Amino acid sequence: MTDAPATALRADADPLDALKLDGHTAVCGLQWGDEGKGKIVDLLARRYDVTVRYNGGANAGHTVVVGDQKFALHLIPSGILYEGKANVIGNGVVVDPEQVIKEINTLRDRGIAITGDNLSISERAHVVFPYHKSQDVLFDSAVAKAWEAGAPIGTTGRGIGPCYADKALRSTAVRMGDLLKPDTLRAQLNRAVAIKNATLAPLAQLCGVDFDAFNAEQLFEQTMTFADQLGEHITDTTTLLHDAVASQKQLLFEGANAALLDIDHGTYPFVTSSNCSSLGIYAGSSMPGATVKNVIGIAKAYQTRVGGGPMPTELDDEVGDRIREVGREYGTTTGRPRRCGWLDLVAVKYTSTISGATALSLMLFDVLAGLDKLKVCVGYKANGRELPGFPADSSVLSQIEPVYHELDGFSEDITDCQSIDDLPANAKAYVAFVEDFVGAPVRIVSVGPRRDQTLVR
Ligand code: IMP
Repeated sequence: MTDAPATALRADADPLDALKLDGHTAVCGLQWGDEGKGKIVDLLARRYDVTVRYNGGANAGHTVVVGDQKFALHLIPSGILYEGKANVIGNGVVVDPEQVIKEINTLRDRGIAITGDNLSISERAHVVFPYHKSQDVLFDSAVAKAWEAGAPIGTTGRGIGPCYADKALRSTAVRMGDLLKPDTLRAQLNRAVAIKNATLAPLAQLCGVDFDAFNAEQLFEQTMTFADQLGEHITDTTTLLHDAVASQKQLLFEGANAALLDIDHGTYPFVTSSNCSSLGIYAGSSMPGATVKNVIGIAKAYQTRVGGGPMPTELDDEVGDRIREVGREYGTTTGRPRRCGWLDLVAVKYTSTISGATALSLMLFDVLAGLDKLKVCVGYKANGRELPGFPADSSVLSQIEPVYHELDGFSEDITDCQSIDDLPANAKAYVAFVEDFVGAPVRIVSVGPRRDQTLVR
């Protein structure tokens, strides 16, 4: 581990130069998360003036590798690792103040300067409180007990769903701007805590677990200490972003979670609680629809999923185990082993379409090296008949039979390849098949965690 600040490590050549992107850009996951968005956002952030998070909360987590340093970010946009760049946590994000402060302190300890100039948090973003986390865990376990099909959502327990639910309920919600108004905050917490205690105590009883009632005054005091530390960051990010665009600044939108987890368009109800496809950008940041010119859809060369819900190409065999071990497929946020399977091109084509992907980035391709045959899912069959598209109903998705196309595998280690043209013929055929099927060009192929293991065309 070096003592050098991460920003000092960033003078080397930029592998994404060849992309020649021009205009505001979004990076969005096309599967169930953990596609490696962090690596691409990190590489892109240096050429944009502002990196913007528009959805989700601390349920997302990505690791950015810079030289020999590793940074685990959950809420703070990846642009924070570049000097002189602005970073915005938009109104569509649900913010756990304790978590943001933890991330700020960790980054500062490692030499990254964080001020009100390079980190702004929307005053309209909603606040995650400890009672949201209790509610998340209690709800999921109550559902696990009560649901006849035995299928809880399997949330990350970070309070995301309950916080968004309070946002929709309004009377129990608190926004980041409220942290700057102590009297308002105290009244809001008195009301919310009374309601949470009244609803969570019986829920805990149903689940057979102990419940310590929340104390509104204690929570208020704790939140005020967070407010002191975050005050300089809380601002009107709507004006900030519109002013930035008006003065020709370039924006990079960093999607959290991924399109198959989108609350409206994902595999509902086994989804998260925000619009995490690119469709969430507009409401979650205040920028109008026509703002974004490039959408880079990120997909692994295979499929993974954490938590419950259907996954048509899941492999419960030695190939699935091998992908998990070689790809180190364990959750960044929860440490849970990820479910692994073949690349589901029906799903990726669907999410690429709804996200308006203008380019694809194929991640973790090196993980597939050494497999004799590679399968990709090109159709879904239900009751012997092929479905016309991606089903809205998760119970249909859980019953379908995947139709596979088989390609020859590649045995060569591709982690040192210098360009997409250098890839072995069978690997190139795999890339070509993906872009033909999905209908968007694969412009980035990632063959390892390092930034120089990013091949671009
Ligand atoms: P929640 O977002 O904590 O409510 O969890 C809902 C579902 O989304 C669970 O299955 C989680 O495992 C999954 N999920 C949420 N965020 C991510 C992510 O960033 N990567 C992978 N799975 C996620």
